[in-house]
Amino acid sequence: MSCDFLARAVPGVQKLSPYVPGKPVDELARELNLDPVGIVKLASNENPLGPSPKALEAIRAELAELTRYPDGNGFELKRKLAARCGVQPAQVTLGNGSNDILDLVARAFLAPGLNAVFSQYAFAVYPIATQAVGAEGKVVPAQGYGHDLEAMLAAIDANTRVVFIANPNNPTGTWFGPQALAEFLARVPGNVLVVLDEAYIEYAEGDELPDGLNYLAQYPNLLVSRTFSKAYGLASLRVGYGVSSAQVADVLNRVRQPFNVNSLALAAACAALDDADYLAASRRVNDAGMAQLEQGFRALGLSWIPSRGNFIAVDFGRDAAPINRALLQDGVIVRPVAGYGMPTFLRVSIGTEQENARFLTALTKVLARG
Ligand SMILES: Cc1ncc(COP(=O)(O)O)c(C=O)c1O
Repeated sequence: MSCDFLARAVPGVQKLSPYVPGKPVDELARELNLDPVGIVKLASNENPLGPSPKALEAIRAELAELTRYPDGNGFELKRKLAARCGVQPAQVTLGNGSNDILDLVARAFLAPGLNAVFSQYAFAVYPIATQAVGAEGKVVPAQGYGHDLEAMLAAIDANTRVVFIANPNNPTGTWFGPQALAEFLARVPGNVLVVLDEAYIEYAEGDELPDGLNYLAQYPNLLVSRTFSKAYGLASLRVGYGVSSAQVADVLNRVRQPFNVNSLALAAACAALDDADYLAASRRVNDAGMAQLEQGFRALGLSWIPSRGNFIAVDFGRDAAPINRALLQDGVIVRPVAGYGMPTFLRVSIGTEQENARFLTALTKVLARG
């Protein structure tokens, strides 16, 4: 007897659309019969530098231990992160990517009848994590393309348990400053958890963005999430972390899978934290690449949303889908953001100088065709 298992799924899951990742290089090569070597992927906000040599060395040293479960408490990485962040290890939660942290928050704090507040154009995982546990996502219209923190405050009601905010935000790259964050945190009810998603913060350090960690002591309802996927160049290993009050960390630990971060990821993340040169190079290449793309867009008469991430959303003022298709034909993968309600934009991750140049050359050709 056949069964409609979609109808059997919990209501939130029935209405979910799966997360759409950037197209993998091999997939495009297969689809269009292209040589993968010539394909440039600027679609998933990955680090174009390749992994840190120190991280690779740490992975190699760990390989002989693959028959063993990883340290489920991530003792060494938590110790290092705590020292770096100026908190206690008990305040650190490790995740299988920072996505895992977002998911743990949803599973621990949200349920049917409760809601999470987030912005229009917010990272796609916030609605997915919220809906998956049957809670409501309250989407607050953006201001320009950035978070309207005032309107987000107004959206908080008696059933709100979580507010998700990314600074800088993906896919828009928009950001807010320290004063805006301080005012926001001062006004959010103390029983609502604020998840400040700083996946891209290392690209903006020293900029006009606040460091969320500075507010932890004052706000026990704050959780700062960060990742090793971007500036630390370890996206494939899946390792991220949350820093919060020890009590919030304890709650998340109750729903965490026992071995959610694997041993190679733990070792590589520890090593990556010590590789200051790699981090500085990530930042340098990103700054230069951002300037290169902005200059290219300016030359093509295109507008874009100023970004503090490792990506930039460029506006074509018309449906960007045909432009995306033509770029794919040319072996260049960027990210369509129509699913975010931005159909005239493409989001381009910052690559190496050569990758950016290859993208700009392809784009110039595509636009010349009209
Ligand atoms: C804003 C934001 N938060 C979180 C993540 C999750 O990254 P990861 O799970 O690789 O740490 C991403 C990834 O693109 C992101 O853009």
